Amino acid sequence: MTQNTRTLTSANSSTEFIMNTNEPFDIDGPSISPPTTDPTPEPFEVKFASRVERLPPYMFGRINNSLYQKRRDGDDVIDLGMGNPSDPPDPVVVQKLIDAAKDEGNHGYSKSNGIVNLRREVASKYHRKYGVRVDPDAEIISCLGSKEGFSHMCLALMGPGDTAMIPSPYFPVHMYGVILASGNVVALDVADPDKFLSNVAYTCENLTPSPKILIVNYPHNPSSAVIEPSFFVEVVRLAKKYGFLVIHDFAYADVAFDGYQPPSFLSAPGAKDVGVEFTTMSKGYNMAGWRVGFCAGNAEMIRGLGTIKGYYDYGMFQAIQIAAIVALRETEATVEKQSMIYQGRRDVLVRGLRRLGWTVDPPKAGMFVWAKVPEPFCNEMSTMDFAMRLLEEGNVAVSPGSGFGAAGEGFLRMSLVENEHRLRQAVRQIGKCLNQSAATSAS
Ligand SMILES: Cc1ncc(COP(=O)(O)O)c(C=O)c1O
Repeated sequence: MTQNTRTLTSANSSTEFIMNTNEPFDIDGPSISPPTTDPTPEPFEVKFASRVERLPPYMFGRINNSLYQKRRDGDDVIDLGMGNPSDPPDPVVVQKLIDAAKDEGNHGYSKSNGIVNLRREVASKYHRKYGVRVDPDAEIISCLGSKEGFSHMCLALMGPGDTAMIPSPYFPVHMYGVILASGNVVALDVADPDKFLSNVAYTCENLTPSPKILIVNYPHNPSSAVIEPSFFVEVVRLAKKYGFLVIHDFAYADVAFDGYQPPSFLSAPGAKDVGVEFTTMSKGYNMAGWRVGFCAGNAEMIRGLGTIKGYYDYGMFQAIQIAAIVALRETEATVEKQSMIYQGRRDVLVRGLRRLGWTVDPPKAGMFVWAKVPEPFCNEMSTMDFAMRLLEEGNVAVSPGSGFGAAGEGFLRMSLVENEHRLRQAVRQIGKCLNQSAATSAS
């Protein structure tokens, strides 16, 4: 039998499609006769790419499934699991969104790197708040939430054989953004900033090839660890010495307590030579569902992210970008007030847990309390099982620390998104459930 090889050359490009077929060529495709009997159905296998198969099972799946089931059954679960703000944005921002949505000119595709006035507003916030000058054209890009920007930055920078150093325990995308970009990860204990920095230096001295990226995140999720500005001065020094790039995830820039001011990485001298910083309107501005984030800093890294985004997305809905400008320009006082609300909730939760005998440090920033699982439970069960018990017997959902990697085992992350009354209720329910649990295990 002869094999026919057809080459279809499209008229206006050099693309060639090579088709091997034993059938005479027919422009409508080869004719297929219907089968006389139905074939036995074969299972149709969908095989994911290896980058997907490298991902572990979702650690919060068990908690989430039980939470949804309980809510479907009508239980009033107090949810301290996700860091999903429950307070609304400033009304002036919502009104601007409504007005901008009514403008017919705002409904087409926008620019994937964000409209210029939004980028200018971000630059002016950097100058006002941190005394840092950032060029809105070359050194700032808008993202569909900082998580999208972070993931695509990993894709722009990382590939097979590249290694990123990340904090441990870790916010999942810090690990899996790198894994999805086919990179490798070295996770370094985040609790003590000096130890973290000496581990960075040690890793660079001893790993071959040397790490390509350092990912940092202060105020840290989940542990609430914070740093002083001198930390970033040392990060820049190490980056220049060992030749790695820096990505700082500054998601909790606007949520801080007791006068603490989280420092911006970009305020360290030379920071823009080596890295970028991601910020977001999700937390301080209560705009999590709006998906507005930014990346600022090194122009070449911004260009890399812009290249990926140019292929993948058409940017944020323009009305949202216009409302975000108003939020940045006019609602600083509301953002500060929101921090005070979180501070009040922090005090209620920490006081309540301490009354139950738990060891808890009050966080200086961020939206979470990172609490040690108390004795005897930490010796008797996994953190996941403990969290399931609080949910099933106490109707309080929390995030088990093990969801943030092995270093989180023995801890719970409790988010401050419920109001003070609900937090007091949560503490009562936890106390009752654990007394019951202690009584059951003693009997
Ligand atoms: C450390 C950290 N980075 C990034 C994000 C995601 O922020 P965004 O809503 O801007 O994607 C979160 C959200 O919980 C976070 O905790």
